[in-house]
Amino acid sequence: MKIVFFEVFNNEEKILKELLPNNEVFCFEEKLNEENIDKAKDADVVSVFINSKLDKNIIDNLNNLKFIATRSTGFDHIDYKYAESKEIKVSNVPAYGSYTVAEFAFALLLNLSRKIYDAYNNLKEGADFNISSLQGFDLHGKVIGVIGTGKIGKNVIKIAKGFNMKVVAYDLYSDLDFAKENDFEYKDLDEVFSSSDIITLHAPYTKENYHFINKESITKMKKGVYIINTARGELIDTDALIWGLEEKIIAGAGLDVLEGERELKEEFEILSDISKSEKVKDYKILLEDHVLIDMPNVIITPHIAFYSKEAENDIVKTTIENIKSFMSGNLQNLVK
Ligand code: NAI
Repeated sequence: MKIVFFEVFNNEEKILKELLPNNEVFCFEEKLNEENIDKAKDADVVSVFINSKLDKNIIDNLNNLKFIATRSTGFDHIDYKYAESKEIKVSNVPAYGSYTVAEFAFALLLNLSRKIYDAYNNLKEGADFNISSLQGFDLHGKVIGVIGTGKIGKNVIKIAKGFNMKVVAYDLYSDLDFAKENDFEYKDLDEVFSSSDIITLHAPYTKENYHFINKESITKMKKGVYIINTARGELIDTDALIWGLEEKIIAGAGLDVLEGERELKEEFEILSDISKSEKVKDYKILLEDHVLIDMPNVIITPHIAFYSKEAENDIVKTTIENIKSFMSGNLQNLVK
């Protein structure tokens, strides 16, 4: 079988080839897009990470495609319903990042609460030992609102409990046994908004969850709230977030994901190539991302919450299992 991997990290190529003997395996660092689609010509299987957008057009141009294996949990970058209509199956890696991403949410939160980045920067840039601007706050005793109590959200709750935080949670489907075991309560969404000192997002990006955090929800939040987003950029209306920060309703934000992050990544390319600039759908979001990056009380990372050694091993292992299960006709981890 011809299997083509895109967005392959440093030393994954060797492992992927070893684990899929007797197949034609090709690995590329770049993401799959219209310009390099020839690299996947005649592929039976294509495997991507989050930056390759597999829309109708890409899917239609891969004539031999039978299986897409995304090496991520989220699959909002794949038009899986369209793929399904063409009998192309799509799998994901449902569980690799549960501890990894939960730990990272706290890395962002602790950076905000204790101004670690500012402290380091002052010291590095200006040999500045003055601490007057660096007073932080304790997590102990604060209320953390967890939106989405799936695999990652549950680990966030366990970590929060270790800090002696008070947890309030909202999910479309409450897990009352887990709540009892971990001594926290599910509340309705407005109550989570109004009572939380920190709100952390762990729900997937779906059509229904687009701009889940918007101007209306921000007006319901406690003044001085901190927002953490390691889920997907599209869950937050960037415009409203900037407004909330400027109005000082939101005291700070820790964001591993941004609306329009794919385009932001390509910005240098875009600025130097007019033909590509036509493809950018929303310059407003790009500009707003820059406004956010420049705000002193916002910390942004380039979608790295998943990126630990352990998670990468799990991703490779499960992806290979997914591909082998497809080959044997015993499909697993299909997205629906
Ligand atoms: P999961 O599927 O185990 O849990 C998601 C939970 O969100 C479910 O319990 C679901 O009922 C709930 N949910 C869905 N819509 C909701 C809504 N409108 N309000 C409240 N709850 C809602 O997913 P998991 O593994 O916990 O991952 C969550 C998200 O984290 C993924 O969908 C992915 O987008 C993101 N992620 C980000 C990574 C990164 O590197 N930044 C890495 C891995 C995942």
